[in-house]
Amino acid sequence: MKYNPVVNEALAAESAWTGLHPLQEAGEIQGALAVMARLQNDLAEATGLPGVTLHPAAGAHGELTALMVLRAWLDSCGETKRRTILIPDSAHGTNPASCTLAGFEVVTVKSDNEGLCDLDALANLLDETTAGLMITNPNTLGLFEEGIQEICQMVHKAGGRVYMDGANFNAIAGITRPGDFGIDMMHLNLHKTFSTPHGGGGPGAGPVCVTEELAPFLPGPHVIEDEDGFLLQNPNKSVGRLRNWHGNFLVLLRAYAFIKRLGGPGLKRMAQAAVLNANYLRVQCNKHWRVPFDRICMHEFVARPTKAMKEKGIRTLDIAKRLIDLGYHPPTIYFPLVIPEAIMVEPTETESKETLDAFAGALNQIAEEALRGDSALKQAPATTPVGRVDEARAVKDPNLCFRCS
Ligand SMILES: Cc1ncc(COP(=O)(O)O)c(C=O)c1O
Repeated sequence: MKYNPVVNEALAAESAWTGLHPLQEAGEIQGALAVMARLQNDLAEATGLPGVTLHPAAGAHGELTALMVLRAWLDSCGETKRRTILIPDSAHGTNPASCTLAGFEVVTVKSDNEGLCDLDALANLLDETTAGLMITNPNTLGLFEEGIQEICQMVHKAGGRVYMDGANFNAIAGITRPGDFGIDMMHLNLHKTFSTPHGGGGPGAGPVCVTEELAPFLPGPHVIEDEDGFLLQNPNKSVGRLRNWHGNFLVLLRAYAFIKRLGGPGLKRMAQAAVLNANYLRVQCNKHWRVPFDRICMHEFVARPTKAMKEKGIRTLDIAKRLIDLGYHPPTIYFPLVIPEAIMVEPTETESKETLDAFAGALNQIAEEALRGDSALKQAPATTPVGRVDEARAVKDPNLCFRCS
């Protein structure tokens, strides 16, 4: 979770924005439309993909949007038999779910020993039913897919298109552009990369950027500029609306403010700092923890308990719970699925060296407690009103009453 600039929150709370109504005529909301049009341009420039829709309400919604665009494009080419999407096993969990929702069949591509998409496995799976490949890059192991250019060429040669889950764009923004290495479509998690607090179920935005070939199929209306100003228009082969109104405008506004304040060089520094922080933490932790792919990572890395810790009966859930006692919100655990007992560490660019050292200290303290067989680990969290809950039951049968008898 990164710190989000307070100035963006103040900006988003301004009544000049919050007082707008989405049914107002374009002539009355030129400022808001200008923000959207310029954000579309900035995202196109940052990704190297010229077609942009700001509609999707979250990353997963962006995935669904892009897959619907792909399907409409395939249908327009008469390619109605192409209904398979290949997805590496290190992909984010929303990827296969979005494919299924969009009516595609998911086929898994296994990772190689380096944690990257296995090119031979991919070659064996490409055929005349392939609609495309959906690849998270950097992947959920925090590794950049080094073969991405070749991967794109292989999929294109087979007649498919490549979707990149760009939720991890904060590792590469300003450094490389997906459109330049062959990606056809991608989403961005504005609420992760470009300000707005991520998580907690709040509003998000998952704009989709596509090549010129796919742009006519994007949802509409979107903002264009002509000699009279900014106006809303439908792309000519649009898949239609995927949500009401024009996207989560205040999330878009924060992203625009964030991009303008940093500029291109600032975005590059952001990505470099996120990568540096993750690598610093990785090296602080790799003596006490097992880091399965212990080499230069991008903005995150995945660790797991060592064999000695496991022999003491310690599970990653115990570690996450103990982190609460030490003052930390636990990160994602048991994901990605390719690493058993995974704990995913993603410090982002805004943490100082002191906070990184403190977090590494907490993780390493837990590792020592585990080896000593300290009961604090199995009893954690001890500092919260409620200790361990039946998490599966809490999801399936939530009791949301305040002080129920
Ligand atoms: C790699 C990746 N893809 C997709 C998503 C889904 O995004 P959202 O939660 O906004 O739907 C996330 C969420 O963080 C993610 O990390």
